[in-house]
Amino acid sequence: MLIKERLFTPGPVPLPPQVIKALGQQIIHHRTPEFTEIFFDVRKKLQQLLDTERDVIMFASSGTGAMEASVLNFFSRGDKILVINAGKFGQRWKELGETYGLDVIDYQIEWGKTYQKEKVKEIVEKNPDIKGIFVQQSETSTTTYHDVEFLGEISNSLDDCILVVDGITSVGVYQVYPEKSGIDVLVTGSQKALMLPPGLGLLYFSQKAEKRLKTSNLPKYYFDVAKEVKKQREGQTAYTPAISLIIALRESLTLILEEGLPQLEKRHSIMAEATREAVKALGLKLLSESPSNSATGIYSPEGIDGNKLRKRLLELGFRVAGGQDHLKGKILRIAHMGYFDFNDVIQVIAGLEMALIKEGYTVEPATGVKKAQEIILKNI
Ligand SMILES: Cc1ncc(COP(=O)(O)O)c(C=O)c1O
Repeated sequence: MLIKERLFTPGPVPLPPQVIKALGQQIIHHRTPEFTEIFFDVRKKLQQLLDTERDVIMFASSGTGAMEASVLNFFSRGDKILVINAGKFGQRWKELGETYGLDVIDYQIEWGKTYQKEKVKEIVEKNPDIKGIFVQQSETSTTTYHDVEFLGEISNSLDDCILVVDGITSVGVYQVYPEKSGIDVLVTGSQKALMLPPGLGLLYFSQKAEKRLKTSNLPKYYFDVAKEVKKQREGQTAYTPAISLIIALRESLTLILEEGLPQLEKRHSIMAEATREAVKALGLKLLSESPSNSATGIYSPEGIDGNKLRKRLLELGFRVAGGQDHLKGKILRIAHMGYFDFNDVIQVIAGLEMALIKEGYTVEPATGVKKAQEIILKNI
């Protein structure tokens, strides 16, 4: 029987036809006026996306490359930093900090929860010399949203501290405006809500962070922001850029800006709410206490192995993600970021119901679908 595979993983996510078309073109050379024109256009669109006139640097790397760049360009050996470590990617901030000899205060949080404001205040009161606060705005491993505004205020209240935000699954899902939220360094990647294949790492930095470029003493070669800023202001990159991805980014940014950021944020919020409410109507438990609108994490019901459920979903045409580290086999993560609409949500919920029933779970078919429809109808 023909079953079409539908991609519902939290990265990579499906590509819009406009992006696929752009990716299918013959390569052009990058040291040309033609590429420079495209590069400047993409730069301008990235600035519109983040509502800034500052540089947004493009690296040919995955998101982790941009994370690494934000450690080694804005910090110096021995700098004390606070890491909000609430999942796999929070852990990555910690590991990056330690790799480069930073003095990491590791605020570990149970997976599925967000940070406590009081605890953050307590840590900074004891450590006024903190030079950086690191967080994921959307922690994909636990599908959890962390408020960044509060951390921006805390960071600004300290003498010399910058807020570094991993926006890899928040940019393109929420309206992320670093200058309004007190974010000093913001990173994102191409294969999430920017609706591209993997391979582009993006980095914004504030005026406050820019001062650190001159003082940072960590070793850097490829991920040298100062070197890139100079080149990218001229419409070029220091090394060979991900030409095809940059050309395709122009298309996905056009789609995003045409939809408009408020509308885009609303769409994601409705898709996420419909997914969460449908899942609850099915009697399943959500993983996160502070759910992100990029993806929804769900515990597999008692007695049903998460990996088996996922395999069953795949047989029915839905590729969703499982859990990472200690959540392996326990959860499912269903994405709704980027090129998704309400109909995708209804489809995947219908698929989840069928997979659950096939695995022996007792539920009336269309229970979740009905709930999802109710939420969608209420909001559109
Ligand atoms: C929140 C977050 N941070 C970092 C990463 C790592 O990005 P990459 O795999 O592109 O290096 C991911 C990827 O899933 C992510 O979701």
